[in-house]
Amino acid sequence: MKVLVIGGGAREHALCRSLSLDPDVTALHCAPGNAGIAEVAQVHPVDALDGAAVAELATSLRADLVVVGPEAPLVAGVADVLRERGVPVFGPSAEAALLEGSKAFAKDVMAAANVPTARSYVCTTPAEIDAALDAFGAPYVVKDDGLAAGKGVVVTADLAAAREHALACDRVVIEEFLDGPEVSLFAITDGETVVPLQPAQDFKRALDADEGPNTGGMGAYSPLPWADPELVDEVLRTVLQPTVDELRRRGTPFSGLLYAGLAITSRGVRVIEFNARFGDPETQVVLARLKTPLAGVLLNAATGNLAAEPPLRWSEGAAVTVVVASHNYPGTPRTGDVIEGLAQAAEVERAYVLHAGTAHDADGRVVSAGGRVLSVTATGDDLADARTQAYEALSRIRLDGSHHRTDIAEKAAASA
Ligand code: AMP
Ligand code: GLY
Repeated sequence: MKVLVIGGGAREHALCRSLSLDPDVTALHCAPGNAGIAEVAQVHPVDALDGAAVAELATSLRADLVVVGPEAPLVAGVADVLRERGVPVFGPSAEAALLEGSKAFAKDVMAAANVPTARSYVCTTPAEIDAALDAFGAPYVVKDDGLAAGKGVVVTADLAAAREHALACDRVVIEEFLDGPEVSLFAITDGETVVPLQPAQDFKRALDADEGPNTGGMGAYSPLPWADPELVDEVLRTVLQPTVDELRRRGTPFSGLLYAGLAITSRGVRVIEFNARFGDPETQVVLARLKTPLAGVLLNAATGNLAAEPPLRWSEGAAVTVVVASHNYPGTPRTGDVIEGLAQAAEVERAYVLHAGTAHDADGRVVSAGGRVLSVTATGDDLADARTQAYEALSRIRLDGSHHRTDIAEKAAASA
């Protein structure tokens, strides 16, 4: 099978790594990729947001499957262009991707499908904003309606800051604060059959102990030793299947990866958000534990044959990933710094480096090229073991000005 992956982050590197280990994959391509992906796939300098260019590349490569990684090309309709040309694609249509692209749309779908989520108001005027903030009280949860790369959400006890963020958005969702640990649960679907993956936990704040600003994600681990073993079945029944059924009922079936961001509150599971693609960095740890070869599962989803897929097989062990971010991330990151120690990091047993924002400079050195630069991933017999390997590998990498969290999976490893 010839596979083309669209995107160039650590999630796409994780996808490419798994696909490169799949004996059914005979050729692996990625556009645009990054310096690390170039080691496992042939990379092509094609703009991921340009549907016509992506379709042309897929056709010229005779790709049997295109996997679209990030949300931006999905919301821009890249999967639609591929489908129109008859190319099997793993990733939802632009209409179905609105589940991620518009928080107001997601709320509407959840209400129709009776999916448990935070109570919310959609506001467009200062008067509506003030009324909503007043109705819920602190802590305030204020979400830009549109895509904002994980940075459109402000959770704060400060009314002035909440109001300022809300007023800066064209359309804003203001909602009830959900207390309790967060879980990311992904499901692969062909629009009808829904196959949940193993749950993971992401660390969204920039600094240790969940301090600092929200980011795209600073680390992740799987499994969750503290979670109810029934959680996956419950979320499949109450969240994932009803959402997929509702979108099919509306004539905009969702095929691809449905990501449920959940809060486990004292009153039960609530959806915080949906995404229309694999999460980053959770994908790094979920795929590290998946034993079933990936390409066939994604192809079955892309072609509507997921009901025929045998149950997925998972390793009993654990996986941990820690993100190395550029100086100043999640603010405007400094880029162009040389990254050293990658070969030494790769020598750590059961650890590997997945590249996010990296590139080669004119001298062929690997340099930082984005906010999240690397995702150092390791597997182990348990979380403590995986954590040790990941942090050992990370300690061998040098990137001037970079920062990372030191507490990824720490509490969970101690509770296991
Ligand atoms: P989102 O982009 O919707 O995932 O929000 C980013 C982060 O903000 C989430 O991972 C949560 O940590 C936090 N958040 C979002 N919505 C809520 C909520 N209703 N209550 C508490 N925290 C929230
Ligand atoms: N890890 C959060 C996300 O992918 O949106």
